[in-house]
This record gives sequence, C-alpha cells and structure tokens, in this order.
Amino acid sequence: MLERAFGKVNLALDIVGRRGDGYHDLKMLLQGIDFCDEVEILPARELQVTTDRPDVPDGPGNLAFKAVLLMSERSGRKPNVQVRITKRIFAAAGLAGGSADAAAVLRGLNRLWSLFWPAEKLEKLAAELGSDVPFCIRGGTVLATGRGEILEPLPDLDEHWLVLAKPRIEVSTAWAYRNYSAAAVTERPKLAPLLAAVQANDRQALYAGMGNVLESVTCRTYKEITAIKEEMVRAGAARSLMSGSGPTVFGLVDSQEKGEAVLAAVTNKFDVETVLTKTLRRNES
Ligand code: C5P
Repeated sequence: MLERAFGKVNLALDIVGRRGDGYHDLKMLLQGIDFCDEVEILPARELQVTTDRPDVPDGPGNLAFKAVLLMSERSGRKPNVQVRITKRIFAAAGLAGGSADAAAVLRGLNRLWSLFWPAEKLEKLAAELGSDVPFCIRGGTVLATGRGEILEPLPDLDEHWLVLAKPRIEVSTAWAYRNYSAAAVTERPKLAPLLAAVQANDRQALYAGMGNVLESVTCRTYKEITAIKEEMVRAGAARSLMSGSGPTVFGLVDSQEKGEAVLAAVTNKFDVETVLTKTLRRNES
C-alpha cells in the first residue's frame, strides 16, 4: 500500500483571535503542492514507523505512529503495520510535511483495512492529530478556519509554478504562535479580495491579497527569511511569502524558466534546501 503525502503552502495566514484552549483562531488560504513524501504501509507483526531521514523521528515521536494508533482504536483493528516514510518534503519547515504523512496513514489504513470511511470522517480524526492534518486528507485550494480544521473547499486555481527555499533553521510552530503580537504585524492578508481572486483565477489580485501574519514573529528573529523573500522577487518571482510558521519561503513565478532562474539565484546566495514545483488540483492529490 503506497500513499503519496503532498505538502502545502499558505497563500494566506491570518490570526483572528486567541482561544481558551491554547490555540489561535485562524483564517488561512491553503494550497496543496506537487511535492510529496512517500508513505508505504505493510502488514507486520507489530507497529513500526521508520523514515529515511535522521532528523525526523522514528517510532512514537512521529505523528504517523499516532495516526496508526488512532485508526486502530477507532476501527478495532490491531495496529500491526509497518509504515516506511521516504521524506522529500523539508522537515519542520511550514510545509505540513509531518501532517501530510499522518494524513496518508489515515487514507492508507482506510484502504488496507477496507473500512470505506468517507473523507469527512477521516478529516474529523485528522483534527485530533494536528491542525494541518485535516487539510492534508484531500488537498486542493481550501479556506481553513477555526484552529485550521474547519475546511471550505474552493475551486482549483490554474497551475502556478513555485520555488521553495528552506534555510537551515528550525522553527517551532508553538514558539511562533506564542510570540505573536498583533501590534507587530505590518502586512495582513486581504481575505475577501483574495477569495474573489481565487474564484476569478486572477493572478495579480491573488498576489496582492496574499500575506502571513506569522512573518512578524519569524522574520524578526531570522533576518535571512526576509532576505530570501527579497532575492526571489529580484530574480523574477511575482510574489514571495513565508509558509506557515516558517522558515520556508515560496516564490510564485509565471513560468518554469523563471522558476529555474529564481531557484538558481537563491541557491547561489543562501544555504538553503530548494525545489521547483507546482500547485496541485484537489483531484490530483
Ligand atoms: O495543532 P498542532 O499540533 O499542529 O499545533 C502546534 C502548536 O501550534 C500548538 O501547540 C499551538 O501552540 C500552536 N497553534 C496555535 N493555533 C493554531 C494552530 C497551532 O496556537 N490554530
């Protein structure tokens, strides 16, 4: 059983309130991308989760392990599977890599154990694992609210090329949210025009409406992120933004050739992991 686990970028991330449960109320425009891990699920004598990257935990420290236990508990099946994760999505990067792997486990076990649970049910289970996991069940272009788990699917965007660049910095999501202060925000996403831009597939309006309030936390501490954003635009990106709590920066470009130029420019100047990829439609995820 092989599942592809696609990452995401935030075309918008706005914090609209603090909640009693320690989380923040968000408004996010999430976009699935054609950049994925591979998650292989095999019957085994006992539960085992392994990855091919030393900086990503094996076993109980991996969200995919918790995903197996959750599916096992709710379905009554024994969690006797081996999960082998081939990582390509940069780790701790703001691209939902760990969430995508966990979502792939939910989808994969749904098939392996012939449960036939609908996507809506998997999304509810996914919310118990993390705020970005529900989106990763189906991908596409989505307005996410609540703590990120309330999903409103939007029409697919026309294809956009994008360059991702992740500096060698570890950013904890909890740290970014803890240090957020509305007073420090200089650029908020413009949600209403952005949603209109998605409906109309209007690229210029999309670029103009994008924004991520967590840049006010992460970019203040790590100046390199702002420098990478600026270099991407200098090299030809139509728009650049940090994804999630960072540190990955993505640049939207209007052709593959421009993407190659932007990728070369950031690789020359910075110590970054990079990839040139595309947005993904919901039915391609
Ligand atoms: O849900 P997840 O485990 O991915 O969240 C990681 C951390 O990010 C949470 O513990 C919380 O500190 C912060 N967070 C938040 N508000 C959200 C999502 C995450 O404060 N909506």
